[in-house]
Amino acid sequence: MEKVPTRLNVAPVPPDEIFALNGAFFADTHPQKVSLGVGVYRTDDGKPWPLPAVEKAEKQLAEENDLMRHEYTAIEGDVPFLKIARDLMFGFEGKASEEPAKARIASVQTVAGTGANHLGALFLAHHMKPRNVWLSNPSWANHMTIWELAGVPRKTYPYYHAATRSFDFDGMMSTLENDAEEGDAVLLHACAHNPTGLDPNKEQWIAIADLCERKKLFPFFDSAYQGFASGSLEEDAWAVRYFFDNKPDMEMCVAQSFSKNMGLYGQRTGAFHYITNRSATSIRDVVVNNLCHLIRGEFSMGPRIGCTIVKKIMSSEELTADWHNDLQVMSSRIKSMREALYNELVRLKTPGTWEHIVEQNGMFSYTGLTPKQVYALKDKYHVYLLKSGRASISGLSQKNVAYVALAIDDVVRNVL
Ligand code: LMR
Repeated sequence: MEKVPTRLNVAPVPPDEIFALNGAFFADTHPQKVSLGVGVYRTDDGKPWPLPAVEKAEKQLAEENDLMRHEYTAIEGDVPFLKIARDLMFGFEGKASEEPAKARIASVQTVAGTGANHLGALFLAHHMKPRNVWLSNPSWANHMTIWELAGVPRKTYPYYHAATRSFDFDGMMSTLENDAEEGDAVLLHACAHNPTGLDPNKEQWIAIADLCERKKLFPFFDSAYQGFASGSLEEDAWAVRYFFDNKPDMEMCVAQSFSKNMGLYGQRTGAFHYITNRSATSIRDVVVNNLCHLIRGEFSMGPRIGCTIVKKIMSSEELTADWHNDLQVMSSRIKSMREALYNELVRLKTPGTWEHIVEQNGMFSYTGLTPKQVYALKDKYHVYLLKSGRASISGLSQKNVAYVALAIDDVVRNVL
């Protein structure tokens, strides 16, 4: 690098692939361009979709014209929102018998899911000092960045079996069994694994929970797709709730995002929940207090508007029902696009097997396309996906799926 007069010692870091690709897509003027890059929901017209439940809530909020709406909240965030977020995640229904379980959970508001992951990583780095964090290979690339910035050494456990395009349960278990050390953190995707779309089944989750308990590993759940993946809030929270309900002597945490399931991408709405074991509930307030210390030193408090929308929806039976319906709309459109792409590839007799596209779950498909094929898709067809072959299925529509399938067919046949 050219020598410049500065006190800084900076070298360029690689741009974030997901957002760099998104920028390139917007700059592309080709009429048939297709974005299968960033994980955002799109309608069948390729447009963003402010959820109808959210739009109704926004309208009501505008009419209420609350004078407090631009004020500061508490450092821990909007407390009624935090209770709603917690109850959604852990499945509380407001019964008195749930109080001892609730007493284990320390919740604070975060800057969406990324902020929750970051705050959690920083909190553990300060107060638990895990020797390592174990990330799935592959994982959402930002997990690496977040833990690197928190100063915790990163290791990976096998997750994807490329030959069979399936979840490598045995590889994951034997690596954690043999190589993870007591006190290590293990990052787990609560559902709709990003990028592979492959989740453990319930039996496998039970075995993972047992392993974490026996080896005294610390489960760190990232929950970015609750309700969005299957359409059911319960189903998508199954793993988190299983750990929480069945392993009361284990500590764990959850980073929770409302970006996808409420379509609140730009509002940066989320929460971090630290769960004490049942014998340590007396430290819950100190946990909140320490999380607040980190929050205050970095951003003072999370933003208000997204939480206000979540509260509005969840405090009205009608809006809650609308939201459940919106979740069904999004998850079923994605499932139908998986099928449409699969059917087109089968019709074209595209070499290879494509069942994995319909078998995977959530926003993404790990297509199995090679980096060169991905490059050719962008270069020749203006179809954008990540170098790993991850495709955001929501970018497909009735209008473009045949075009995308033809493009894939061409690169599979002609680009090795
Ligand atoms: C993605 O993985 O594309 C999304 O979760 C967006 C992001 O923040 O990376």
